[in-house]
Amino acid sequence: MAPDLTRTTVGIVGAGPAGLMLSHLLARAGIESVVVDNRTRAQIEGTSRAGILEADSVRLLTDTGVSDRVLREGRRHAGIELRFEGAGHRIDFQELVGESVWLYPQTDVFTDLADARERDGADVRFGIAGTRVVDLTTERPGILFDDADGRPHEVRCDILVGADGAHGVCRSAVPEASRTHHFRAYPFAWFGVLVEAPPSAPELVYTHSRRGFALISQRTETVQRMYFQCDPDEDPADWSDDRIWSELQARVDGPDGFSLKEGPVTDRSVLRFRSLVCEPMRYGSMLLAGDAAHTVPPTGAKGLNLALADVRVLAEAVESAVRGRDRGALDTYGPRALRRVWRAQHFSYWMTSMLHRLPDATEFDVRRQLGELAAVVDSAAGSTYLAEAYTGWPG
Ligand code: PHB
Repeated sequence: MAPDLTRTTVGIVGAGPAGLMLSHLLARAGIESVVVDNRTRAQIEGTSRAGILEADSVRLLTDTGVSDRVLREGRRHAGIELRFEGAGHRIDFQELVGESVWLYPQTDVFTDLADARERDGADVRFGIAGTRVVDLTTERPGILFDDADGRPHEVRCDILVGADGAHGVCRSAVPEASRTHHFRAYPFAWFGVLVEAPPSAPELVYTHSRRGFALISQRTETVQRMYFQCDPDEDPADWSDDRIWSELQARVDGPDGFSLKEGPVTDRSVLRFRSLVCEPMRYGSMLLAGDAAHTVPPTGAKGLNLALADVRVLAEAVESAVRGRDRGALDTYGPRALRRVWRAQHFSYWMTSMLHRLPDATEFDVRRQLGELAAVVDSAAGSTYLAEAYTGWPG
């Protein structure tokens, strides 16, 4: 069967926040795009993801007309708490750097973007299958796929963008000789739960304990999100509600009497994590954005923010290339995006290594971490670095 052919300016693989935001920004600049994703909308909306937006990410959503729901339903957090040796220490972002972050889950960002693209009449195809990218070193690259009824389709474009996440087809379509992977694995994972309970704290609590890291986050007045460090091979089925609560309580326990408000656990999963940067972020007519190009551990809450920052820069490069009929303009994207990516890699690695327990940790390692944490919370210089990085670098 001859494939159904669509021609467009920018073909985007991946309808997560990066792909949809790029399509939205391009549409505002008068540039056509088609977005495809193997997952259905319901599948994407059903995945639990992280929940912190930098101020610039919020401004990108509100100022470009995606939605202002984040301002109405998101929660502004003017700081976080670092908890160690059973005592809490607040890092006041507003006081230190005059910025805040917003607690607003990635699923809601996705819903706002998908609604905005639908409202503006964009060509977004969810629930397709068998996606392949071809002819990447030509000026007419293509995306091949089958629709939900099994009919073959072909999208031909001038510029192709891979925004299809860490396990997508785009990055692996770059020949190994044409990319370098900078990679780091961690010998632990996060056990993530959604629980039906009231909030235990007004802001996020990042906890160092001798039993390992824990993070107390929130979702709504009645649903909370929490994580604790676990072995990467841990099986969620081995964890009853009681076992989960006693582990979480033990990690936050301390002389100040802080304890978590408990309730039924409605979702549990193990999240493995790693650090990865793929360079360069361009191969021929294809550019990679978001998790397709880099992954960070979730401790710094940077993944979604980096993806949005990538596409802000990428939209500008694409606009210059299309308007000026100059593909050379695409070369500005990678180096500009990577400056932020490597800062975020460092920050995420730093937060992770300061707060997690290594499997073979000695008393020296633990005391060194406690010294590092004290140097952060007891010093304006130390906590200002954390506040600046967590709320996001300008530019
Ligand atoms: C979350 O709420 O899911 C969350 C928040 C902060 C992180 C990671 C995850 O660093």
